[in-house]
Amino acid sequence: MYRVMINGTRHEVDAEADTPLLWVLRDFLSLTGTKFGCGMGLCGACTVSLNGRPVRACSLPLGDVGDAQVQTIESLAASGELNPVQQAWLELDVAQCGYCQSGQIMAATLLLEQNPAPDDAAIDAAMAGNLCRCGTYQRIREAVKLAAS
Ligand code: FES
Repeated sequence: MYRVMINGTRHEVDAEADTPLLWVLRDFLSLTGTKFGCGMGLCGACTVSLNGRPVRACSLPLGDVGDAQVQTIESLAASGELNPVQQAWLELDVAQCGYCQSGQIMAATLLLEQNPAPDDAAIDAAMAGNLCRCGTYQRIREAVKLAAS
């Protein structure tokens, strides 16, 4: 049994230590906003926040989460209002197929928490690990700037 803090709530999870956090979120806690893309830490679809830093939930074993605060895409609009990144994503119609976008939004949100006014280079560096097969990169960049403004 492991105790984990997810979106401000403590959960007890009866899973093996090597269970990826992604499956804890999706299968044990029904937090399906975090997506499975590659399962190897390469695409960023499963990006969540661990103590304010982006991590790949597919590659983080439950046993390594410890006392860290995990935030998922579900936490961003927990107040009932979309966060500025989500609002910018909607306003600029960023999503195409949409599959990677929760990971993109998490990465962008965490970027803006660290750097409220990122330039193009900072945006590209922060978002480089989040792949989009539809090629929405230009709209992602513009939406990050809009959210920052
Ligand atoms: Fe985790 Fe691709 S599903 S990085």
